Amino acid sequence: MENTYTLITGASSGIGRAFALEYGKRGQNLIITARSGDKLQELKREIEKDNQVSIECIIMDLAAEGSAKLLYEEIRKRKLHVDVLINNAGFATKGLFHKTDYKRQHEEMLLNIVSLTELTYLLLEDMCQKRHGTVINIASAASFNPLPYSAVYAATKAYVLSLTQALSFEYQDYGVKLLAVCPGATDTHFFDGFKTAASRLRMPEDVVRTTEKALKKGKSICTDGTFCKAQMLLSRIASRKSALGIMGKTGRKTWG
Ligand SMILES: NC(=O)c1ccc[n+]([C@@H]2O[C@H](COP(=O)([O-])OP(=O)(O)OC[C@H]3O[C@@H](n4cnc5c(N)ncnc54)[C@H](OP(=O)(O)O)[C@@H]3O)[C@@H](O)[C@H]2O)c1
Repeated sequence: MENTYTLITGASSGIGRAFALEYGKRGQNLIITARSGDKLQELKREIEKDNQVSIECIIMDLAAEGSAKLLYEEIRKRKLHVDVLINNAGFATKGLFHKTDYKRQHEEMLLNIVSLTELTYLLLEDMCQKRHGTVINIASAASFNPLPYSAVYAATKAYVLSLTQALSFEYQDYGVKLLAVCPGATDTHFFDGFKTAASRLRMPEDVVRTTEKALKKGKSICTDGTFCKAQMLLSRIASRKSALGIMGKTGRKTWG
């Protein structure tokens, strides 16, 4: 369909940008959104140069109250139809909980949880009516275990994983697929300002490839890289207490 678009949040860098480049290459029209308008315009030019696609840029701070609704209304105003939603925008705070700026942690919850949930909610209506659509929610290796010294971040990503898997069951008879993608440590701006506990980093393109394989197999969850698989395994084989001890030591050493 000519007016059908893939909406990618946080498309200005990292994993979101890699999704935009790959989907653009495949001839998908895109709505790319983030706060950095200049980076979105540059990405639009780069994709349109080599591909016959339409790229719409929408500048939006999705950590602001009510912003998901504003984004949805802007998409409707432009008469665009979204058949693939990639809820990718997100960030992490690190440090001892009560010493970490609360405003930042509140924004983290608004971006990672509230906007992701509201966009999914608003766009599902249309997808269900057409009995066609895909929602890809970017969770994390941190979705599987509590993570001391990044407690709010891991809790937001546990939410993303739980919500997405539950909805994938609810909507299986509506023609809509939902997939939670759990990247491990990946080489993006995500780690600007703090260290990673992982010894090797994945590339954003690896996450995109893993996502595509999982979609083809009809999965509701996928992990990218051995670091992430190890986190998932830990949550399965260790008791909650042991897993917390292991994660706590790592968290304290890295960000405490
Ligand atoms: N990199 C990793 O190791 C890793 C591991 C697991 C999960 N993840 C998840 O992967 C997703 C993408 O992160 P990344 O690694 O690609 O990091 P990144 O390079 O920092 O990209 C984050 C993207 O989110 C956007 N964003 C940040 N705050 C925003 C806001 N308030 N409103 C709208 N957009 C905002 C940024 O754009 P602007 O700054 O232009 O707004 C940027 O496009 C996140 O959900 C992250 O939690 C990453």
